[in-house]
Amino acid sequence: MRYLFICRLCLVLVFGAITGMAAAGMKSGDVSAARALFANNGCAGCHDISERSSGPAMRDIASRYQGKKVNADMARRIREGSIGRWGDAEAHPPIGVLEPREARLLADWILSGAP
Ligand code: HEC
Repeated sequence: MRYLFICRLCLVLVFGAITGMAAAGMKSGDVSAARALFANNGCAGCHDISERSSGPAMRDIASRYQGKKVNADMARRIREGSIGRWGDAEAHPPIGVLEPREARLLADWILSGAP
């Protein structure tokens, strides 16, 4: 029982360290800007940070592409749409109101675990 507790504690610490490191990869101003873009462009209507809804969870997206340099492709898919990558019948619609720079910021934020 006690070991179980210690294990869990380790997991929490390790996870905290990983997300902490990922968050450290982005300036806090960029994190708030990305969060605002996420909230104000309808993303939250289909995506949750950690739970699957009609679209995949942001943290699941981050783990699938962990360590891969996919930021530019992802930014393009955010603006132009995506289908079939997550086994959904549904598609991610084109979100053309975003500037390429904003889509890039969102991709960087998502890939760092949506801190
Ligand atoms: C109408 C619902 C909807 C909205 C609004 C939406 N998404 Fe999506 N999104 C989806 C679905 C469904 C998928 C899975 C598509 C697939 O299987 O390729 C997805 C996939 C994604 C992916 C993964 C693409 C990849 O490279 O694998 C990212 C990143 C993403 N969305 C970000 C966003 C962001 C950022 C916004 C807001 C600007 C947003 N989504 C708005 C439904 C939505």
